[in-house]
Amino acid sequence: MKHLLGTKGMTREDAVLILDTAAQMAATQDREIRKLPTLRGKTVVNLFFEDSTRTRISFEAAAKRLSADVINFSAKGSSVSKGESLKDTALTLQAMGADAVVVRHWASGAAYQLAHGGWLHGSVLNAGDGTHEHPTQALLDAFTMRKHLMNTDGTGVDGKGLDGLRVAIVGDVLHSRVARSNMHLLTTLGASVALVAPPTLLPVGMDSWPVDVFHGLDDALDAQPIDAVMMLRVQRERMTGGGASFFPSPAEYTRMFGLDGQRMARLADNGIVMHPGPMNRGLEISAEAADSPRSVIVEQVANGVAVRMASLYLLLAGEEQS
Ligand code: NCD
Repeated sequence: MKHLLGTKGMTREDAVLILDTAAQMAATQDREIRKLPTLRGKTVVNLFFEDSTRTRISFEAAAKRLSADVINFSAKGSSVSKGESLKDTALTLQAMGADAVVVRHWASGAAYQLAHGGWLHGSVLNAGDGTHEHPTQALLDAFTMRKHLMNTDGTGVDGKGLDGLRVAIVGDVLHSRVARSNMHLLTTLGASVALVAPPTLLPVGMDSWPVDVFHGLDDALDAQPIDAVMMLRVQRERMTGGGASFFPSPAEYTRMFGLDGQRMARLADNGIVMHPGPMNRGLEISAEAADSPRSVIVEQVANGVAVRMASLYLLLAGEEQS
């Protein structure tokens, strides 16, 4: 693996390798000294063109725990806001000796362009590009599901994926790179996926997707027991243009698609509640659901560091072994 751009097309073997490596990384994080010398001398640049808190600090923590040097490059207040192109930014990072660039960008395809533009020699990790992909989020979600719902101690020694698991992804699928990356990875790992959204918040051309579609959360819960329900943030900042209205009112959205205590009680026996954050409490998820013992939302954040450590390790340290 040279880059981590998406989960579409990722083999099951590679996905399981990342998850298994993440389990090893997570185990090192219980030790008194959590820092590993693995990436000493390597430079990781966090290149963020879009606001982010948890993903950026998660990548930063991951790189630092592997002893890499970290440079945070936020496009706001930088020469990018003066009109510098992605190409010129990349050439600058190359000149600074970046071994890996973690990029978040509002344009779908930006990570691919950075990886294949010929401007950088290092690895590119996609930390979210437009509405396209967010592979480390999907991997940390899979890691969390495997830990809670699969019959292993989380190390997956038998190479197990998520076979037979039933996952519902609920809400603003249209704008969600998290939903896309999860759909690809979950199906590769053997889970079945139900997308639950109003027709206005589903992308066109979905017929080829290997998913079941429901237009109400109750319908999805009626159809089959759900092992993991993944609530998506309603991305109001992407709902611009033409005064478009994607649902009648927030109250109506909550009524059809919100997760509350009653709906949560209808999950499968050990069913878990997930959300990539940041949450709109009271809109897509109630406080009762977000804070319940079934909620693994805070744990997803912790698992994100282990998954990003594994990804950086496999891209940067792995190249020397092969
Ligand atoms: C997601 C993102 O930015 O794509 N959040 C995240 O990475 N923590 C989802 C979202 O913003 O709704």
